[in-house]
Amino acid sequence: MSNKQWWKEAVVYQIYPRSFQDTSGSGIGGLNGVTQRLDYLKDLGIDVIWLSPVYKSPNVDNGYDISDYQAINPEFGAMADFDRLLAEAHKRGIRIVMDLVVNHSSDQHPWFIESRSSLDNPKRDWYIWRDGFAGGPPNDLTSVFSGSAWEKDEKTGQYYMHNFAVAQPDLNWANPELRKAVFDMMTWWLDKGIDGFRMDVIDAIAKPASALAANGGKAETCFGNPLLHEYLKEMNQKVLSRYDIMTVGEASSATVKTAPIYAGHDGAEVNMVFQFEHTWIDHDPKLGKWRYAGFDLLKLKEILSRWQTALHGKAWNSLYWDNHDQPRAVSRFGNDSTEELRVLSAKMLAACLHMMEGTPYIYQGEELGMTNAPFKTLDDCRDVEIFNAYRDLVKGKGVLTHDEMMDAVQKLGRDNARTPMQWDAGVNAGFSTGTPWIGVNPNYKTVNAAAQIQDPASVFSFYKQLIKLRKERPVIVHGDYELLLPNDKRLFVYRRNFEGKTLLVICNFSAEKVEGIKPADLWKNGAAGRKLLIGNYAGEPAEPGEPSLIRPYETRVYLR
Ligand code: GLC
Repeated sequence: MSNKQWWKEAVVYQIYPRSFQDTSGSGIGGLNGVTQRLDYLKDLGIDVIWLSPVYKSPNVDNGYDISDYQAINPEFGAMADFDRLLAEAHKRGIRIVMDLVVNHSSDQHPWFIESRSSLDNPKRDWYIWRDGFAGGPPNDLTSVFSGSAWEKDEKTGQYYMHNFAVAQPDLNWANPELRKAVFDMMTWWLDKGIDGFRMDVIDAIAKPASALAANGGKAETCFGNPLLHEYLKEMNQKVLSRYDIMTVGEASSATVKTAPIYAGHDGAEVNMVFQFEHTWIDHDPKLGKWRYAGFDLLKLKEILSRWQTALHGKAWNSLYWDNHDQPRAVSRFGNDSTEELRVLSAKMLAACLHMMEGTPYIYQGEELGMTNAPFKTLDDCRDVEIFNAYRDLVKGKGVLTHDEMMDAVQKLGRDNARTPMQWDAGVNAGFSTGTPWIGVNPNYKTVNAAAQIQDPASVFSFYKQLIKLRKERPVIVHGDYELLLPNDKRLFVYRRNFEGKTLLVICNFSAEKVEGIKPADLWKNGAAGRKLLIGNYAGEPAEPGEPSLIRPYETRVYLR
């Protein structure tokens, strides 16, 4: 397979439709809202939209619980609206990648309703049913959303597996009929003309024997069981390989060793995976994200550099700070304590990520430097993960106090990313004329698209320039990677090389100025001949171009 593929050169923009643009006054964003904003996205310069689920769903997990894979959630519009969105996007040269949520369905999906109806229903085996053990669940498998991953169904007395919410029963990929139904559904969407899939928790589709055993024993995690690669290869042969599309698998268990199995240059499975290591650096080793453990730049550098180096020439990376499951990057890895630092650090983070090797993903609002939500109470929250964790850790086990839990919710909770897109300084940030389903971040009066689109010094304009640079400079897409100053606790500096060109990326992750960096630390043979491609401060430091002084949250990208 040649090294030149459109999805390597592309920049992807993720839309969480519920929070993007409402055109009906319902307080919930929809498909027509996305269509209405296509020109904004075209102006930004992105190539691909990843649309979070828009399928029919009872919304226990905001659409990640699907009750009909071939119908649109009426809250978001109708299939005709989807068809129009696809056509309008394609007219502008923008591709659309759909979310594919097939580790589980909703418990309201007709497949599950049939499956649970009796022990001998033909669809019984499309889900994972087991007898209990000694009056309890089959084994100790736990759900990502807290508690046991087994739910007893009174009708037949058996338990079904749910790695997420109780309303998200896991599909049984070991059943060939189920696999065929999934592949047929995927083919139906691809024949409609969509441009690929982002595959939700795809690393959990194959369950290990211990998780399936009804023996009251210890279950291994369902994430990362090697059998999943057999299913992905089959999916690739039967479906994906027949289309010119882009595929990205969400794989929290992926390591630099396993990522090339999924996303190797042989193209046998998917084009790239979302790895998670860098999103865990500020989680407590025991309580996970519900006890904030602080941000350590050295860890971040080690992780991202390891992925850069290990995959180069072998497999393709995806690059992201943010998505609908993560807090806002500028609040997390940057600094939102003042308007000046917010803007500087949002740009610095953008350059740091977009100059690496891999396909960059921008999550809606990231291009504006949107920040975490100042939610104070559980009433402000909407996320099932937060509610379940609160019930489990505060009310149940009592390992966290209310205040500790709310602190973690504010720092790391998923609702931070789900507040409405901030379009302008008008009512509800221009998101909706109704009551938004989740609160608007009150900083929308200053942080909004209308204020940034025309401003050459805005975060939006900076993203636009980064995207443009990617199209002009092959070293950004294809260069190798070399970390410099690995032990510096404030600076993240790396170099990329490709066909005689060198890119030098300097990022200050601190609010301090860093002095005394010598050109010899950064360039192999002196700094002569380098050109500043982009930076977040006006002009270069006083000395003729030498990066001896790096200002708070400064980034500079040089090319030679
Ligand atoms: C993925 C999604 C997340 C969802 C979960 C269950 O991690 O990104 O939003 O809750 O899968 O579908």
